[in-house]
Amino acid sequence: MAEPAVKRVPGRGRFITFEGGEGSGKSTQIRALAQRLDAAGLRTLVTREPGGSPGAEIIRHLVLSGMGKLLGPDAETLLFAAARDDHVRTVIEPALARGTWVLCDRFSDSTRAYQGRLGQVTPAFLDAMQRVTIGDLKPDLTFILDVPVEVGMKRAAIRRGAGAPDRFESENLKFHQDLREAYRQIAAEDPQRCVLVDADADTATVAASVWTAVRDRFFKADVGSMASLA
Ligand code: TYD
Repeated sequence: MAEPAVKRVPGRGRFITFEGGEGSGKSTQIRALAQRLDAAGLRTLVTREPGGSPGAEIIRHLVLSGMGKLLGPDAETLLFAAARDDHVRTVIEPALARGTWVLCDRFSDSTRAYQGRLGQVTPAFLDAMQRVTIGDLKPDLTFILDVPVEVGMKRAAIRRGAGAPDRFESENLKFHQDLREAYRQIAAEDPQRCVLVDADADTATVAASVWTAVRDRFFKADVGSMASLA
């Protein structure tokens, strides 16, 4: 079902989310984009889910420990929803209202992909959760970083080092293949909002694609900004 568009209040910040499977490079790309926006004189806030607020970080610890899995898919989804509710209310909305650009590492598409497609939580349940937690809030732009599963898993293993894989990293190969497919489907279903990025390229190439999309989306009509943001 198409979600209603957010009413844009003058001076409100933009909300950009990054999505993708394990090891897709989201955090590196968020940092790169934040630096470019900062350099362009915009106020930015980098945040993440699950987490991003003190209350939500406690829930993050719970779900990544595997505790949520023991409760079953619906209850685990409720934990993500509770975390998101706190994060949106106490961090994201106030920042957007102040005119800050919010860059978020994962948001509601993660719930659609991980719990919806893979945990088989029903769309009706997810829609209800979404209404309660985020209402009309919809990202202005979502990057879906697409990388072959083997590449992503290898990157995630290197990042982890000797540490144990978390709740989702320890799922099997089929899970991660389905996850990639779920994200590609989300991108295809909402092409206005989502940009599917080939994240198998080197960091600078991916960052350039991200920046081009941001510039085209937000600064294209503004010739002055284009010059300063080139
Ligand atoms: P994290 O260590 O942040 O993973 P990554 O670096 O891949 O983003 O762990 C977050 C995990 O939680 C990740 O495996 C995806 C999962 N997740 C969900 O299952 N549902 C959600 O709604 C969110 C936000 C994350």
